Amino acid sequence: MKQTLTLALAKGRILNTALPLMAEVGVVPLEDPSKSRKLLIETSVAGIRLVVIRSADVPTYVEFGAADIGIVGKDVLMEYTGDALCELLDLGISRCRIAVAEPEALAKGDDPSSWRRLRIATKYPKITSEHFASKGIQTEIIKLYGSMELAPIAGLADRIVDLVDTGATLRANRLVEVEQIATVTARLVANQASLKVKGEVIKRLVGKLRSNLSQKGDPE
Ligand code: PRP
Repeated sequence: MKQTLTLALAKGRILNTALPLMAEVGVVPLEDPSKSRKLLIETSVAGIRLVVIRSADVPTYVEFGAADIGIVGKDVLMEYTGDALCELLDLGISRCRIAVAEPEALAKGDDPSSWRRLRIATKYPKITSEHFASKGIQTEIIKLYGSMELAPIAGLADRIVDLVDTGATLRANRLVEVEQIATVTARLVANQASLKVKGEVIKRLVGKLRSNLSQKGDPE
């Protein structure tokens, strides 16, 4: 019997860049995931189907085997506390960075080497606390789920840790990037058991993606 492979895709910026990549290796959704209300979408390849979910849910779906493989940002993987995922490939897409930012006015007289204790708003509490703990800097972290850039303006925190791509959102809110924590790209991850049971079909897809990436100039 032909095996079914379920691929979890993170909504938003990953979805927009992952779909063209999947199309290049012949996997095209039969309905447009950004328009369809369907959450489970068949593709042009019989046996490969997509689930399109919030990025923070992708590791959970894959870890528990509700999806066999997933495409998700490295930021989400770094923040995830589970340890049963297998990272197969750096897809090199959706490249951005995790950075510390603060208001222009604060940055003028600020010296990051003098930081001892910081109040930071972020949706990445784990990444943030680990980063500053490794530098011996204490943090009070305020967990948010979006619109981090508002926090310094509204007086919630002095600084934020957030994704920066073009920098337009920071500029629009008169914030400046003062420290980079990590570079982020989208990764292909797999469930450990699926790798054993569906190893052939996963290997074939990974092989196609890898050779497609190397033709473009592999980011790895
Ligand atoms: C991210 C991030 C910033 C913005 C940065 O949000 O949180 O708000 O993108 O991009 P820029 O440097 O090009 O302006 P995203 O759009 O991923 O949505 P989110 O608020 O749900 O995280």
